[in-house]
Amino acid sequence: MDIELRGAAAEDVAAVLAFWQLAAEGTNRGGDDTAAVEALISRDPGALLLAVRDGEIVGSLVAGFDGWRCHLYRFAVHPARRRQGIGARLLAAAEARFRGFGGRRADAMVLDDNTLAHHAWAAAGYVPQEEWRRWVKSL
Ligand SMILES: CC(C)(COP(=O)(O)OP(=O)(O)OC[C@H]1O[C@@H](n2cnc3c(N)ncnc32)[C@H](O)[C@@H]1OP(=O)(O)O)[C@@H](O)C(=O)NCCC(=O)NCCS
Repeated sequence: MDIELRGAAAEDVAAVLAFWQLAAEGTNRGGDDTAAVEALISRDPGALLLAVRDGEIVGSLVAGFDGWRCHLYRFAVHPARRRQGIGARLLAAAEARFRGFGGRRADAMVLDDNTLAHHAWAAAGYVPQEEWRRWVKSL
């Protein structure tokens, strides 16, 4: 299987949004739109990692470093391409990116009932922190 991992470019935005509708978890919570993805690519080129096969997106992972911590979002693999190591490759690429910045710890928000994701995160060495909850405010 010939899969290329690369950062997203502005011309990928529409395909990325369509891919997330197909493959990602949590796209029904709003906020996924052209302007948001364009802003990400403009703010931090390379943060939106894509796995691409024959020109089609088959995987994604946002690997954002804010200067302090390393945050992972939109971990998704095409339903027909799961369990082929693409997710693991995306995580390894994200972690290599973080190490390049001097990042020390990566985190991800994972729904408690998303057992499919739990398998993949655990396989890559991530563990839940039971004592924390996410506090949010819309801006
Ligand atoms: C989570 C997800 C990205 C994993 O992608 P993937 O390409 O299938 O993962 P990999 O093939 O790299 O799997 C790596 C390891 O994770 C574990 N794993 C992955 N899927 C698994 C499953 N369905 N059952 C058991 N273990 C699983 C295995 O240990 C696997 O290694 P192995 O195949 O050598 O045993 C994919 O399942 C997905 O897109 N899920 C829907 C979106 C989602 O929920 N994303 C996470 C949001 S937090």
